[in-house]
Amino acid sequence: MRLTLTVNGEQRDIEGVAGTESLLYVLRQRLGLHGAKNACEQGQCGSCSVHLDGVLVCACLVPAPQAHGRSVETVEGLAGGDGPHPVQEAFLACGAVQCGFCTPGMLKATEDLLRRCPDPGEAEIKDALAGNLCRCTGYRHILEAVRLAAARTRALEPRP
Ligand code: FES
Ligand code: FES
Repeated sequence: MRLTLTVNGEQRDIEGVAGTESLLYVLRQRLGLHGAKNACEQGQCGSCSVHLDGVLVCACLVPAPQAHGRSVETVEGLAGGDGPHPVQEAFLACGAVQCGFCTPGMLKATEDLLRRCPDPGEAEIKDALAGNLCRCTGYRHILEAVRLAAARTRALEPRP
């Protein structure tokens, strides 16, 4: 099939997509967007997290045809022309990265949390990251990074 979708604001047309391919496969193998990682392919690690029409999903669980005509935002779309996204800066500042394999999913989950909840409490932060596994580290630095990202994001927003 011919798959048409918007990826990070740009329309992409891909020919010859099989109905058995996942959105993750299309992003990585057909579009060369390797930010979303392929680890479990079972919806259990969160390393493939992307937004699909504004909803955080595991791209490995989305059949590619379901993305037809829809909007996908990947970790590659986080940084803007002005530089890194505040969430990316916070992960760097807190040293919340070791091998980095889980990091794209952590960044997307954090971005998603802060879209929904600009001032999250501990329970909301832990809940937001519950589907994202890190094999390297304890989660202390990651949780610090989420708190810092929330504070920085709030500071950037115009006050009423
Ligand atoms: S690769 Fe998709 S959830 Fe693990
Ligand atoms: S930093 Fe290696 S899996 Fe999380």
